[in-house]
Amino acid sequence: MTKIVIAGAGYVGLVTGVCLAEAGHKVTCVDFIEDKIALLEKGISPIYEPGLNELIRKNMNADKLSFTTDYKNAYCDADVIFLGVGTPENEDGSANLNFIYTAARQIAETITHDCLVVIKSTVPMGTNDKVEVFIKNHLQHKVKVEVASNPEFLAQGTAVRDTLHASRIVIGVESEQAKQVLTAIYAPFNQPILTMSRRSAEMVKYASNDFLALKISFINDIANLCEAVGANIEEVTTGMSYDARIGDKFLNPGIGYGGSCFPKDTKALHWLSEEEGYVLRTVKAAIEVNEKQKFKLMKKARKDFASFQGLKIAVLGLTFKPGTDDLREAPSIPNIRLLLNEGAQVYAYDPIGVENFKKVYPTGVVYEETPEEALEDADLCFIFTEWEEIKTMDMKVFREKMKTPFVYDGRNCFSLTEAKAAGINYQSIGRPEVKAAAVVEQVKV
Ligand code: UDX
Repeated sequence: MTKIVIAGAGYVGLVTGVCLAEAGHKVTCVDFIEDKIALLEKGISPIYEPGLNELIRKNMNADKLSFTTDYKNAYCDADVIFLGVGTPENEDGSANLNFIYTAARQIAETITHDCLVVIKSTVPMGTNDKVEVFIKNHLQHKVKVEVASNPEFLAQGTAVRDTLHASRIVIGVESEQAKQVLTAIYAPFNQPILTMSRRSAEMVKYASNDFLALKISFINDIANLCEAVGANIEEVTTGMSYDARIGDKFLNPGIGYGGSCFPKDTKALHWLSEEEGYVLRTVKAAIEVNEKQKFKLMKKARKDFASFQGLKIAVLGLTFKPGTDDLREAPSIPNIRLLLNEGAQVYAYDPIGVENFKKVYPTGVVYEETPEEALEDADLCFIFTEWEEIKTMDMKVFREKMKTPFVYDGRNCFSLTEAKAAGINYQSIGRPEVKAAAVVEQVKV
C-alpha cells in the first residue's frame, strides 16, 4: 500500500488528507502546530467545513487517517508526500514560499526511501522545478526524489464535496513514473485526470482563480455603471447568463471578492508577470476594481449621514462569504475599522464567524446572537455576507427594530419589491435605490 503523508493540516492539506483516506488510502497528516494536531487527534476539525468532522472520525476509526507533529517519523519512509502548506502574500504582492521551503528541507533531511513530493499549494510557475533541485541538493540519504504539481481547486464551505467530486484533477509531471503514481492514487475518485507539464499545472491554478476574480470584478464594474445609468444588474446578468459561453456562475455583484485565494493569487500573478516584463493588464484591473468595491457601501452611506460618530451601526455578516468561519480578506474587517475609527458603535451578528472576529477586534465591537438584537435601535445597517439566516429575514424587522431603517446591502440579499413593501431605505449593488420618503426626511443631512 502506498504510504501517503500530507505536510500542512490547513484547508488544503487537511481536506486532501481526509478525502484521500476516504478514497481508501492510508494517510498521515503532519503539522507543526501542536494544538491543531491535539484537536485533530480527538477527531475535531480546527476549521469549520461542512462534512469534515464526520469524515475525520470515520477514517480515524477505520485506521486510515492519523495526525502527528513528528514529521521525521512521518516523512522517513513515505512513498508520496503532498505539500499543502500555506503560500501567503508578501508585502509586495508576491507569494511567500517560506513554508514550502521549510517543508522541502525537512523532507530532504529525513527521507530514507524513494519518494514523490507533490505540491498542492498554489505556487508561482517554476517553483516545482526549483523545489526539486533544492530537495536533491539537501538530501541526506541516497534516494530518488521527484516533484510533481497537483493544484487544488476546492472552495471553502464546499471543500469536501469539491474534492470528492472535483471537476478535474490536474497533474503536472516530468516523468511517466510520477504520472503513474498520481493516476493510481486518484483512480478511486473516478474524475477526469489532466496530465501536463509542471509549469502548465502551476499556471492552470493561477489562471483559473484569476479568471474567476476577473469575472467578479467585471460584473462589479458593470453593476456600478448600472447604478449610474439607471439599469438593474440582476436583469442584466439574467440577460447575459442565457448565453452558454457566459453562463450564470460568478456573476453576482457585491462588495468584492475576499478569502484566502483570489486576493493573493491575483496579486501574485500580477507581481510575477511584472517580474517577467509582461504586465497582465486585465488582472491588474481586477485588483483595482476589487480594492474600490470593498468600500462601496461606505460611499453610499456617507451620502446619507454626514458622520458615523456616535451612531449605532448594525453589521450583519462578517465572514468573506457564507458557509465558512474564515475572515481572510473579508470586506467586513476594513469597513468596521473605518466605522470604529470614526466613533461609531458597532453591533455585529454572524452565525459562525464571531469567535474568529473577536481575535481581530476583541474590544470595540458588540457581538449579538441574532440579527434582531444587532438591529435594535440602530441608526443604520450594513450587510456584508449573504448568510441564509440573513437572506431569509422578514424585511419588516428592519423597520420594526431600527431607529431609522437605512439598510446598505453589499450582497443583494433581498428583492427590491420586498424592500419597498417593508417601507425602509434600502441600497444595494447595481440596483436602483429604494427610498422610504418619511425616513429619508427624518435623518438625511
Ligand atoms: C476560490 C475558488 O472558487 C476555488 O476554486 C479556489 O481553489 C480557492 O479560491 P473560495 O475563496 O473558497 O474559493 O471562495 P469562492 O466561493 O470562489 O468566493 C470567493 C470570493 O468571491 C468571495 O468573497 C465571494 O463572496 C466572492 N464572489 C463569488 C462574488 O463576489 N461574486 C460571485 O459571483 C462569486
